[in-house]
Amino acid sequence: MRAAAKDGKQASAVETTGTAASPADGYVSNDTCARCHANIAGPFANNPHSKLALEHGGNGVTCQSCHGPGKAHVDGGGDVTKIIRFEKLTPQQVDATCLKCHATTHPNFLRSPHAKANVSCLSCHSIHKSVPYTTLLIAEQPNLCYKCHVDVKPSFDMPFHHRVNEGVVKCSDCHNVHGTFLPANLRNTADQNMVCTKCHMDVRGPFVYEHVPVRADGCLACHTPHGSQNARLLNMPNINQLCNQCHSPVSAGTVHGMNEGSSEVTTCIDCHTYIHGSNLDQAFLK
Ligand code: HEC
Ligand code: HEC
Ligand code: HEC
Ligand code: HEC
Ligand code: HEC
Ligand code: HEC
Ligand code: HEC
Ligand code: HEC
Ligand code: HEC
Ligand code: HEC
Repeated sequence: MRAAAKDGKQASAVETTGTAASPADGYVSNDTCARCHANIAGPFANNPHSKLALEHGGNGVTCQSCHGPGKAHVDGGGDVTKIIRFEKLTPQQVDATCLKCHATTHPNFLRSPHAKANVSCLSCHSIHKSVPYTTLLIAEQPNLCYKCHVDVKPSFDMPFHHRVNEGVVKCSDCHNVHGTFLPANLRNTADQNMVCTKCHMDVRGPFVYEHVPVRADGCLACHTPHGSQNARLLNMPNINQLCNQCHSPVSAGTVHGMNEGSSEVTTCIDCHTYIHGSNLDQAFLK
């Protein structure tokens, strides 16, 4: 961004502070690169680093903001040892280069499971060779993620699943791969509850009569997030078994006793319909 400053330009949406650069610092005018790299410089006008930054009131990021000062490279007739080549950088160096400007948007990246496992920005993004209509991604979700997370793929082929492969829900709706404060890179919601209530507003409450585990243990006490053999993404095939992990309401002579319509022959939720909580009934019957 020093080069941007040289032209009196300053991108605004992302941190791009810098001091004025002079040829003495080893920079050349930004048009210079296009002379020999027209194939890259041409399409760059539509790159978010150029187009979006301009639309957002800045003046765009230029070649030398990322590749460093280019004078020695140009004077050497394209000496590749005198210019930053990203494939020669370590993952940490790549991240540091990008985070110079993107630390505000992604402040947790360096302590995310991805950064710690040497998965750098360029494992998922490409500046010049991204898939169209994405945020500079090298592949679209979910295939981008399946490249490395083959183990989670089968769960999205199960009879009941969040329709990620069908494009209804995205991995990034629930995960922020750039790091969060929760385990498994989970996004959090405004009320610090599970990511789930962002879309499933109706189960969030607050209810006059809360079903304690919904808040205390979270949705995963009863549901599997990716996919399941069981309807409603439940953890267990048998609902009564699911409930009886925490309850055993089998006292004879009550509604739960060994009579017709009892819990031995009826599913708990046939009666306890409002299982996530109710405003009318302590036992979630209505
Ligand atoms: C005088 C022509 C010329 C100019 C001007 C020029 N380059 Fe190059 N550049 C080359 C040549 C030749 C190569 C090596 C061949 C290749 O890989 O394209 C090269 C290679 C590169 C590479 C490494 C490519 C790789 O395959 O890893 C980068 C990055 C690069 N140039 C960036 C720049 C930037 C940024 C500017 C402007 C500051 C610039 N170049 C200006 C000629 C030039
Ligand atoms: C936002 C950072 C950034 C900006 C701005 C940028 N580049 Fe790159 N450049 C990269 C990265 C990262 C790579 C590695 C391949 C990729 O991700 O596409 C790269 C790769 C290259 C290569 C190697 C060729 C290749 O296809 O691998 C050349 C040449 C190059 N850039 C030239 C330029 C020129 C010329 C400009 C200005 C028009 C420019 N770059 C602007 C980050 C940037
Ligand atoms: C000199 C500052 C700077 C550097 C360095 C930089 N970026 Fe950017 N980046 C920007 C700006 C400015 C935008 C446009 C954002 C806007 O205006 O909303 C942008 C946009 C993006 C976007 C697209 C956002 C969107 O909504 O489409 C991605 C992805 C991105 N950058 C990734 C990277 C990666 C990966 C690197 C490192 C190879 C990198 N950036 C290096 C400043 C920078
Ligand atoms: C594991 C894959 C992965 C890694 C690693 C990664 N990104 Fe992303 N990035 C994504 C995906 C996927 C999106 C799109 C998110 C969406 O659509 O909600 C994205 C979106 C973005 C955006 C657009 C703003 C936003 O949050 O939606 C920027 C800017 C960005 N990434 C920059 C970076 C930078 C800088 C790094 C490295 C420090 C990085 N990314 C590392 C996958 C990744
Ligand atoms: C509906 C929300 C949601 C969607 C969509 C989602 N995840 Fe998850 N994911 C979760 C939750 C919640 C966990 C935590 C599970 C736990 O703690 O038992 C998790 C856990 C994970 C884990 C940790 C290991 C594991 O298998 O439990 C990985 C890796 C993962 N998800 C990847 C993905 C990928 C890749 C996609 C897209 C193909 C995706 N997720 C889509 C909610 C989601
Ligand atoms: C280049 C390979 C790669 C890509 C692409 C990738 N990941 Fe990862 N991901 C990893 C590695 C390696 C880890 C850390 C080790 C582990 O937990 O598996 C990780 C960790 C995670 C975790 C945390 C797992 C945990 O147990 O805490 C989640 C969630 C996750 N990735 C989701 C995604 C999503 C969603 C995408 C697509 C947007 C994606 N990843 C793309 C390699 C990748
Ligand atoms: C991005 C929005 C979104 C997020 C976040 C989300 N879901 Fe979903 N969920 C959906 C959609 C869409 C459906 C499918 C509804 C349909 O197919 O009719 C669904 C379906 C379900 C179903 C099955 C409903 C049925 O009628 O069979 C359950 C259970 C469920 N989600 C639980 C969760 C849990 C638990 C989480 C958090 C780990 C979560 N959801 C996060 C959007 C989301
Ligand atoms: C105590 C166990 C339990 C907990 C905790 C729980 N659920 Fe459920 N959930 C169920 C049962 C049982 C069903 C099936 C209801 C039916 O089939 O009528 C269900 C059904 C659903 C459905 C399907 C549509 C509906 O409303 O019936 C969604 C969506 C859902 N749950 C989301 C969530 C979310 C989001 C959370 C966390 C905020 C959560 N559940 C917590 C037991 C639970
Ligand atoms: C993870 C443990 C857990 C699971 C699973 C669970 N519950 Fe609960 N449930 C509780 C706790 C804790 C309370 C608070 C009252 C208590 O301590 O008994 C409660 C309260 C209730 C109440 C209200 C009792 C009252 O009078 O206050 C009903 C009815 C109930 N659960 C039915 C169910 C049904 C039906 C299921 C299966 C769909 C189920 N529960 C699954 C833990 C659980
Ligand atoms: C035939 C309808 C019906 C079925 C089936 C049923 N319940 Fe109930 N349940 C009730 C009624 C009615 C009450 C009493 C409500 C009251 O006293 O206000 C009750 C009360 C409860 C209570 C709170 C008081 C107590 O007895 O501890 C719990 C917990 C409970 N049921 C759990 C379950 C579980 C778990 C199942 C499935 C194994 C189940 N119920 C099946 C109708 C039913």
